[in-house]
Amino acid sequence: METKGPSKVDPSDKSKGLRQSGSRKINVLRPDPMDRPQNPIRIGASIRKVLEAFVSTTSKAKITGRWAACKPRRAPGNPPRESNRQNTPNNKHRATNVMSKLMPRAQRIPIELRKSAATSECTLHQLSPYIGKLKSSIARFLILEYTKPGDLVVDPFCGSGTIPLEAALTGRTTFACDTSDYAALLSTAKLNPPRSEQFALEKAKQLITEAMVLPVPDLRTIPRWVRDFFNRDTLKDVLRFAKVARREGNEFWFACFLGILHHQRPGFLSYPSSHLVPYLRDRKYPRTRYPELYQYRALTPRLEAKIRRVFKRMRPLRSKAVFERASAELANLPPGVRAIITSPPYMNALDYERDNRLRLWFIDPSRARFQEQSASHKRKAFIDVMSALIKRSCAQLDPRGYFILVIGEEVKRTFRAEPSEVVHELVAAHAPSLSLKTVFTDAIPDVRRGRRYCRGIKQEKLLIYQKE
Ligand SMILES: C[S@@+](CC[C@H](N)C(=O)[O-])C[C@H]1O[C@@H](n2cnc3c(N)ncnc32)[C@H](O)[C@@H]1O
Repeated sequence: METKGPSKVDPSDKSKGLRQSGSRKINVLRPDPMDRPQNPIRIGASIRKVLEAFVSTTSKAKITGRWAACKPRRAPGNPPRESNRQNTPNNKHRATNVMSKLMPRAQRIPIELRKSAATSECTLHQLSPYIGKLKSSIARFLILEYTKPGDLVVDPFCGSGTIPLEAALTGRTTFACDTSDYAALLSTAKLNPPRSEQFALEKAKQLITEAMVLPVPDLRTIPRWVRDFFNRDTLKDVLRFAKVARREGNEFWFACFLGILHHQRPGFLSYPSSHLVPYLRDRKYPRTRYPELYQYRALTPRLEAKIRRVFKRMRPLRSKAVFERASAELANLPPGVRAIITSPPYMNALDYERDNRLRLWFIDPSRARFQEQSASHKRKAFIDVMSALIKRSCAQLDPRGYFILVIGEEVKRTFRAEPSEVVHELVAAHAPSLSLKTVFTDAIPDVRRGRRYCRGIKQEKLLIYQKE
């Protein structure tokens, strides 16, 4: 897109979002302040044409303003759009009531937690990416602040295992569970790392040798969408390796392999693609211009380099950790829990199955569906899971124990309340002995939000409850 210098709009213009344009004013939606670029960008000629064509279907207005989305005015008598319904007086009043309970105690997270932890954390955290992953420094902060060495910490939605890993690194006993196969693999790998880099490298060599004597797979039996990601010869190697690495006891090596499965960098195995979720980037990197990105990619040097990266800042696990592949509402939570620290699925915002589909296919090629149906997707399912968890957690918590939730807030809401409000109401209803002590907020910068699926999540709230 063509970008130009700052707009010549008069800064003293008091019309705030209304621009004079031809014979009438059009409403200009300003982007959220967190998204607003430092230098306002003027829309390019081609984009302007498209927008003008769109607007001209409802008016004769011309688009002249700064980068902005144009929203045609609602014709009198038309019903408000779905997303505006939450602002009806009753809902607004209700939301304000809940917020007034939360917000007076809200504070920004400590400043040292706002920067990236990528260059200081234990590199085992970087085994393989995971959408909605918690920053390890926040996990560490919560564990150190609210528990002591030897305490039992539980994470019922552990995802890639950030909280249990930090708990084990800081000498807390930990119990974790999750329903996703990919989460199970990553958590098991992180909580049972190999004893040394040397051992990890030797075992990787052994697994590759074992894999390369397997019969060459028939690529016609592989789904087309999977084949599309790989050079044919690379795919033959990775399919054979996955078959061996999938066996129990090899979780660390399988997780390293999944960590280099797709990306556009040379150290990865696929055609140019994004890293977090599998989208081919063949338009940005066309085969004709970048033929080298479409050539065979040898597995051995890439897997060895990955293992070395994981061992770069490896730290010893100092206590016992148990992972169970189970849903939060049914898992056998042990008694005597000092703290439940968890980040529940982002209600209606992320789909952990669809966004991990390529890695999930390698974990289980017989799997047919890659679309989530449950807690992260549907509001009712989220409420059911959270209600069950809150009731059980309260029973298992020690007196004075902590129940800590990291909740991703949606900015573009499609339902009445923000997830933290929903959760707060559920706690009040099902666990009156839990009282809210502190609320921390953490703005999520665009770089961490990753891609369009996360566009609604701009802030995390850390709700700290204590059992009275
Ligand atoms: C926000 S993510 C957790 C991220 C994690 N804290 C990390 O750092 O990687 C939420 C997780 O909840 C899991 N999940 C969804 N529904 C669940 C359920 N009913 N029981 C257990 N886990 C569930 C998803 O698979 C996902 O891994």
